[in-house]
Amino acid sequence: MSSVPRRTRVNDSPCVISRRGWLRGIAGSVAAAGAATVAARSSLSAMGALAQTPMPDADFWKQVRSEFLLDKDWTYLNNGTLGPTPKAVYFTLVERYHDLAQDPGQPNTDQNAAADDVRRKAAAFVGADFDEIALVRNTTEGMSFMLNGLDLKPGDEILTTFHEHAGGLQPCRLKAKRHGVIVKEVKWAAPAEDPAVILNAFAAAITPRTKVIMASHAMYQTGSTIPLKQLATLAREKGIVTAIDGAHPVGMVKMDMHDLGVDFYASSSHKWLCAPTGAGILYLRRASQEQLWPTVVSTGWDDPKRGAARYDRLSQRAHPIVLALGAALDFQSALGQERIETRVRALHVYSRRALAALPGITYHTSANPELSNALLAFTLANVKNADIVETLKKRHRIWTRTMEYDLNAVRIATHIYNTEEQIDRLVAGLQDVLKGNIVKAPTTAPDDED
Ligand SMILES: Cc1ncc(COP(=O)(O)O)c(C=O)c1O
Repeated sequence: MSSVPRRTRVNDSPCVISRRGWLRGIAGSVAAAGAATVAARSSLSAMGALAQTPMPDADFWKQVRSEFLLDKDWTYLNNGTLGPTPKAVYFTLVERYHDLAQDPGQPNTDQNAAADDVRRKAAAFVGADFDEIALVRNTTEGMSFMLNGLDLKPGDEILTTFHEHAGGLQPCRLKAKRHGVIVKEVKWAAPAEDPAVILNAFAAAITPRTKVIMASHAMYQTGSTIPLKQLATLAREKGIVTAIDGAHPVGMVKMDMHDLGVDFYASSSHKWLCAPTGAGILYLRRASQEQLWPTVVSTGWDDPKRGAARYDRLSQRAHPIVLALGAALDFQSALGQERIETRVRALHVYSRRALAALPGITYHTSANPELSNALLAFTLANVKNADIVETLKKRHRIWTRTMEYDLNAVRIATHIYNTEEQIDRLVAGLQDVLKGNIVKAPTTAPDDED
């Protein structure tokens, strides 16, 4: 049994659920479920109306923020691990589960059929065709599908980088152990300020045996972006497959898979798209699908006419989560990807400038907008990163995270619901740390690796 008390939030106040309260809650949720659809729809239409504003100002972003159910006492700066669901998404999820609880018959059939609408929306959102999108569960699953599904022989090489997440790296290691494939890491002096540094490092490492390049579009440790379009061109010229870990960019910056020219790209909808966990988008370029065996199979896996849907044959699955992903795509499409990108880049620049006032700060994220996004990794001289994160949490109610790998940094991730005032609060918190007001992190603090 978990020692963590089960908590729910009613009107923003935490409460431990008693049995009677739980039953009351069920009765309440039955009554509330119809209201949930109304809430989801009205939240979406509010977003649609708001999105007509030609020049978004502070007031505009305040209204966007009010579409989230975020705890007002916290400054949440870790969208890179898990994004919060806005009302439209949350209420869609609740309502669709309620439909199934009430009647697992027709609603289940309808929800299953509606998954293709979500596939269509996801394709439009990432600049792909309908038959190039598989609805998987997250980036880790998408990366495993890619690496597991490629035919590689002993001695073939997978080229990857020195800052990969386990979700992409471990499927490569499995391939190495099982099939005698060689995994080589490309390194460069980070943060690179010139895309050529990264491209040259890859070009120098490619050999006639290189069959796959597996790399993160946005690196989770440094927060830097790689020049993916140029890398994909380089790979294609040499007949190398690109298997990309795109956990971060979808929902953060404008996406166009066809323009990027990659073969395979996996993303996590629970991060920057602010969808619930359990619904990832996997892009599989049409012409490249013939190289990829499906991993999880059921009827239809061997029918190429199905396109990428051959790779998500899960039989019964969490349809409400898929439909909530649809609501997240609607929410962000109403706002507009360009507008979201402009906002998160503005917050990134604001953070960089504001934090620069702190003595002893070093950035590990590129300053070149071509090589950066909404993530920012930094260290403060002579202070342990874990202690910084703990102090911000305990003394200032600011949620950040450490990167305790070879890099050793603190990372912030700012999204559309964050404000400049919250960044000022972060700076004040770090000034407090520099004055020596430090809460020591527990030595056994688990690192969530996300
Ligand atoms: C670069 C990168 N890849 C993969 C993952 C794993 O994502 P998921 O939880 O969707 O499998 C993460 C999670 O933070 C990540 O940052």
